[in-house]
Amino acid sequence: MITSGIKVIEEGSSIDIEGLIFLSNGVELIVNESPRSEDFEYLTSFFKPRKPWRGPSSEELDILFDAPMQFDGNSSVYICRLPEALIDELSIMGIGDLANLQSLTTLISQRSEEFSKISAYIRNVVNFFLKDNGAFKYRGIYFSPPNLETTAYDNNKKLLGLHVDSAYTEGIPDNKPDIMRLCINLGKETRYILFINKSIQHIREMIAEYEMVKELRYSVDDLVAKFFQYYPDYPVVKLRQRPFDFYLMPADNIIHDGSTEGTHHCDITMVFQGHMNDLIP
Ligand SMILES: [Fe+2]
Repeated sequence: MITSGIKVIEEGSSIDIEGLIFLSNGVELIVNESPRSEDFEYLTSFFKPRKPWRGPSSEELDILFDAPMQFDGNSSVYICRLPEALIDELSIMGIGDLANLQSLTTLISQRSEEFSKISAYIRNVVNFFLKDNGAFKYRGIYFSPPNLETTAYDNNKKLLGLHVDSAYTEGIPDNKPDIMRLCINLGKETRYILFINKSIQHIREMIAEYEMVKELRYSVDDLVAKFFQYYPDYPVVKLRQRPFDFYLMPADNIIHDGSTEGTHHCDITMVFQGHMNDLIP
């Protein structure tokens, strides 16, 4: 079962638990998986959640949800909804119906004034969560095919499976990173966030129960593989991200991915990266 670690925080006083969280039956190592779509194939070996998915026990829910709800940028996953007025504007734009980046570019050129207004609104929302008043990077809008068990891919369009973002770190981070990923679901279907509710530091401590981690110079990928080798039954958390929900996650401090399994339409996400507030008011 899940043990104490990374917390989930959902905005709002009444959390709709139904369908919000699922837990896997551990993970499995997949080798030489056949391509999932015309455009994407998996790395030669990767980890994915092992089925079946199940609902969490009440004890596991207590472990996963923080009380009182306080956001710690290094040990929380925050799921939140865009303001309703912004959702209305985005719905009118119809981005969720688009199939690729090219059609988005066309739409933006046709309706540049509306898009500028929406863009400014989104930046205000993102800015609310940032340290240093604006120290964030807009990563882009990403289109991915539907129905992928895991969604993250590298520059060669190879799907990664469960991973830790390491763009800002080399080797195993000694200090808590505070780079946060903010991702908005602009698609028309619910997608899911997959993650292990343990920080890199916590994972290192768990591996140390089996071997002397400090003596070895693991890369972050090695650390992920070692964790799954020693804890293959540890559940992956699958957290719902509805259209116009966004999440905040310290993606270089958590083993994670996205999932669109079972969907029929293009997955569209808008991603920002930056130094987020440790505490969201
Ligand atoms: Fe990632």
